[in-house]
Amino acid sequence: MASDLVDPFGRVIKDLRVSVTDRCNFRCTYCMPAEGMQWLPRSEVMTFEEIERLARLFVERYGVEGIRLTGGEPTVRAHLSVLVAKLARLGVDLALTTNGATFRLLAHELREAGLRRVNISLDTLDREKFERMTRRDELVRVLDGIDAAIEAGFDPVKINAVVERGVNDDEIVDLARFGRDRGVEVRFIEFMPLDATGHWMSDAVVSQDEIVAAIHEVFPIELLPVRGAAPADRWRYLDGRGTVGVIPTVTKPFCGDCDRVRLTAEGQLRTCLFATDEFDLLRAMRSGESDDQLAERIERAVGTKWAGHNINQVTFVRPKRSMSQIGG
Ligand code: GTP
Ligand code: 5AD
Ligand code: SF4
Repeated sequence: MASDLVDPFGRVIKDLRVSVTDRCNFRCTYCMPAEGMQWLPRSEVMTFEEIERLARLFVERYGVEGIRLTGGEPTVRAHLSVLVAKLARLGVDLALTTNGATFRLLAHELREAGLRRVNISLDTLDREKFERMTRRDELVRVLDGIDAAIEAGFDPVKINAVVERGVNDDEIVDLARFGRDRGVEVRFIEFMPLDATGHWMSDAVVSQDEIVAAIHEVFPIELLPVRGAAPADRWRYLDGRGTVGVIPTVTKPFCGDCDRVRLTAEGQLRTCLFATDEFDLLRAMRSGESDDQLAERIERAVGTKWAGHNINQVTFVRPKRSMSQIGG
């Protein structure tokens, strides 16, 4: 029988995000420096068996209901579908967040292996701007990857667009239109201070209110009532052409409803995107600890989960790790 994994603020952990690699084939400016990061040696990255063991513990012992695979870029991990098949057997809501560049090649295989949902990042529809933002000339392949995801039957397919002032905020309406035309939900994300390059400034954040106003002016929308633990607020287009979301990480933190924990590629448990502490489950596993001992570590970690981040306060301490190392 599963028992709830509850943090000191009464939040029940239901969602596990697992980074399967810290590597990435892109170099998004809001995530990492041009030269990339120092990649982890293979021996320090969790094997599929290790990921499966921890995932099983979270699901069977603590009733975790959702697992999302992230990176770096999860699709650069070889044989990803083998891991997907292992995790699909746990009977959870299994999802993936990807940059989409190679998704055409993998969509079918991942779907067959039991992956149901996919979120694909797309910040601009302009080829040159895409190259500036991701430092890769891959827009055409990403658009094809999105089509491949829809064709393979992923449901839902969501598009993540990080909005940066002066960079792509002029494309909010175009991206919204893109989602309407393809029948996919675009979620605009407020830029967070996790870029590792230190170029984040609060001025660069385009607020949820601004994003919503820009969309509403062209495509009238109305707020959908329920958000639950998901990070996105959602609106419906009044003409019935689907929905659009905004993830207001900075201006309206949703930490109070947060039900997630994260495992980095090197097996460190993090209880917040912005956590400054990590709990080393990989070393514990490799030193032969039992499931009960691992569970004790997990409970201790969850006991330190913060009420929330405080990006907007002077006391905010920027995590040393970039988004790519944490897993998004
Ligand atoms: P679903 O809502 O289940 O589709 O997933 P998701 O939106 O949580 O996943 P995704 O990986 O697509 O993340 C979208 C954005 O939300 C990214 O910019 C994430 O970094 C951000 N995000 C995800 N989890 C958290 C979190 O715990 N805290 C904060 N502040 N942001 C988060
Ligand atoms: N702020 C907000 N979102 C970010 N992402 C990456 N870096 C940042 C940041 N600094 C997004 C990616 C991807 C998801 C995992 O996180 O675009 O969609
Ligand atoms: Fe890679 Fe995602 Fe970071 Fe872009 S945001 S560099 S695709 S890990």
